[in-house]
Amino acid sequence: MRVIVKNDPVEISHEAAEMIVNQINKNHGSVIGFATGASPVETYKRIIEKYQKGEVSLKHITTFNLDEYVGLSRDNVNSYFYFMKENLFGKTDVDFDRVNFLSGEASDLEAECERYYNRIKECGGIDIQLLGIGTNGHIGFNEPGEKFMDRPFSVKLTQSTIDSNRKYFEAVGDKMPEYALTMGIGDIMRSKKIILIATGESKAKAVKQLVEGEVSPSCPATILKIHSDVTVFLDPAAASLLGDKK
Ligand code: GLP
Repeated sequence: MRVIVKNDPVEISHEAAEMIVNQINKNHGSVIGFATGASPVETYKRIIEKYQKGEVSLKHITTFNLDEYVGLSRDNVNSYFYFMKENLFGKTDVDFDRVNFLSGEASDLEAECERYYNRIKECGGIDIQLLGIGTNGHIGFNEPGEKFMDRPFSVKLTQSTIDSNRKYFEAVGDKMPEYALTMGIGDIMRSKKIILIATGESKAKAVKQLVEGEVSPSCPATILKIHSDVTVFLDPAAASLLGDKK
């Protein structure tokens, strides 16, 4: 795991965007795994800028997102599909026919998870997966627990995750869903390359666990230690609790 500390989220975004754009320019049909939340937003801005300058086209890529809330339609402002449309896809030439999402509206959630697993496989796996990290060490919506999940699954969100994200729902007078669908740890680990971005003091504890702790499902992100190609980008606040690895 390479741990890189940059001065701020903008500096991080330049490097992370460059890695993703290089992958796409190396293979226009790359399969890219995207994440939602505040952490990747600056990186998406840099990708959009590169698209606008003609430095990259997203037309032939296939995309998979990590997760989606159960019960939200794609046009709900708090759905992750809507987030990706607003923050990246809708501002580039992405082909929406190759945008893959777990559907939080599926009537059979188990079948939906199976479909997503098979779709990733059919597309040859994910070339680069972008990740954020929850304050409790979750990745995607793989919450702390007793075991690592291999394939996509439906998850009951923890109180800590609800507390971190409820503001987005309260802002529009909605209640935050208690369940979500997420890629499993296995799906994430099967990605050829992984980039994780963590900024701000609220992530410092989870980052310390990730970098210095033992691999354990009680902090799901720690599994990334055993992946062969992970780059972790931190700002000084997120890195503030690290010891000699800072
Ligand atoms: C949510 C998402 C994660 C994301 C995390 C951190 O729970 N499911 O994929 O990484 O929040 O979000 P943020 O980047 O807003 O701190």
